[in-house]
Amino acid sequence: MEIRFQNLGHEHWKAEVMLAPACEGENLPKCCPELDKAAPWLAVAPALRDFKGKSEELALLHGHPELPVPRVLAVGLGPRERVSVDGLRKAIAHAVQHCHKKGFASILLPEPALASLPGGRERLIEECVCAALLALHRFSALKKTSADTPDPQWLALGFDGKSTPDEAHAAARRGEHAGEAVMLARTLANMPANLLSPEDMAGKARELAEEYGFRCTVLDENDLAKENMGALLAVGQGSVRPSRLVILEHAPKEHAGDNPLILVGKGVTFDSGGLSIKPASNMHQMKGDMAGAAIVLATVAALAREGAPRRVVGLMACAENMPGGRATRPGDIVKAANGDSIEILNTDAEGRLALCDALCYAQKHWTPVAIVDIATLTGACAVALGGEVAGLFSNDEALAERLRAAGGVCGENNWRLPLWQPYMEHLKSEVADIANIGPREGGAINAALFLRHFVADAIPWAHLDIAGVDWTDKNTPLCPRGTSAFGARTLLELARGGTQ
Ligand code: BES
Ligand code: MN
Ligand code: ZN
Repeated sequence: MEIRFQNLGHEHWKAEVMLAPACEGENLPKCCPELDKAAPWLAVAPALRDFKGKSEELALLHGHPELPVPRVLAVGLGPRERVSVDGLRKAIAHAVQHCHKKGFASILLPEPALASLPGGRERLIEECVCAALLALHRFSALKKTSADTPDPQWLALGFDGKSTPDEAHAAARRGEHAGEAVMLARTLANMPANLLSPEDMAGKARELAEEYGFRCTVLDENDLAKENMGALLAVGQGSVRPSRLVILEHAPKEHAGDNPLILVGKGVTFDSGGLSIKPASNMHQMKGDMAGAAIVLATVAALAREGAPRRVVGLMACAENMPGGRATRPGDIVKAANGDSIEILNTDAEGRLALCDALCYAQKHWTPVAIVDIATLTGACAVALGGEVAGLFSNDEALAERLRAAGGVCGENNWRLPLWQPYMEHLKSEVADIANIGPREGGAINAALFLRHFVADAIPWAHLDIAGVDWTDKNTPLCPRGTSAFGARTLLELARGGTQ
């Protein structure tokens, strides 16, 4: 769906349907003078008689000679004192899905209707655009073309001035880029593992680098061996598909010499558990174990696309965790890129192995202003926090606060968990410098502590564990069943807002 602007004044607004988001118990919002003039008629319009403005409520009105559009879709927001950006996002998505079902080809969102809602004008514009795009997104690449009604062709933001302020334009474009980044990450993470290997991830990265103009370098298994990345290599050695480290870089001219923000993503294209094999039920979900890497790729692509004034490096640690004849055995000891030996007591704790080498690489080749890694890392995090809030770990207060705020404004909430130092005890190995698992209890913390072991204290670092939030079992207005790419918007927001 294309995002358009109609900024010649309300007399010129045109679309098959206009959305009118309304608070519970209130009249329809002031969208344009015509709608206000039509208010007495609306008050008695049969379609609105039962409309209370409760959240999830919709009512479609047809035909009034005063109105610039043939239909108005009243969209309930719930009571004004409880209206939030999260609620507005869902309501807009719900309404756009309804328009799709009805077969409307074009939708108008009048910007004046947002004026009385909390959140700030530009934020609301960005969120509405992003929500409208996500509402229509489906993973349909592998299905025969369905008889589904086509998507609406465009959504226009209606401005009632003689011109659209640049800030409103920019906000809408941010929403569009954010929505498209999430959709890209979802498409990749929903792709089955037989169709998306570590090499395919690298191929996709190269393609996007070409399209949006950022740098992309791929390290193959020989390169990884030269970099002494024994941990990442260990994850992939039971698979016939070789591992890759994909290095992305967005470095606009004026910032080419800056120290970069570095984003690191877990890119396990399938996690069978390896020889410590997983139970059969739900194993298919492990095709999404590369969501972190997909999110990093989508974020860097979005930043390059909008020419963000900041140097950002993305590292995608890609491998397939399989129990083949060359697979790592429990008890094997490997060497990470920093020279530390790791005793692999459970081959299913592979994400931290892939990530630790990428973290070493980040510190060897750059002086990062900050490193943020994102990974579907532990079932324990899902148990601790459930399906709606991600785990956040950090060695730096300011970075943690920025990530909390970034997640909060875009509907991807995270909650800080402690890097509880005494638990480091549990990662001690009899025979190596560190073991790759601790006890089941505190599993998300143990994994985060393992990662921190590979990061210098002086470098602001944060880790987002998205294992619990990356998969949704039911369709919601903003996300169909499958992978959610939770965290893509957070990283984009962080990189846009500026880390130091
Ligand atoms: N990819 C999984 C974590 C995961 C679980 C993601 C469920 C999404 C949904 C990770 O590699 C894993 O297997 N972790 C183990 C660690 C354990 C062996 C210490 C886990 O959480 O059970
Ligand atoms: Mn695993
Ligand atoms: Zn995994």
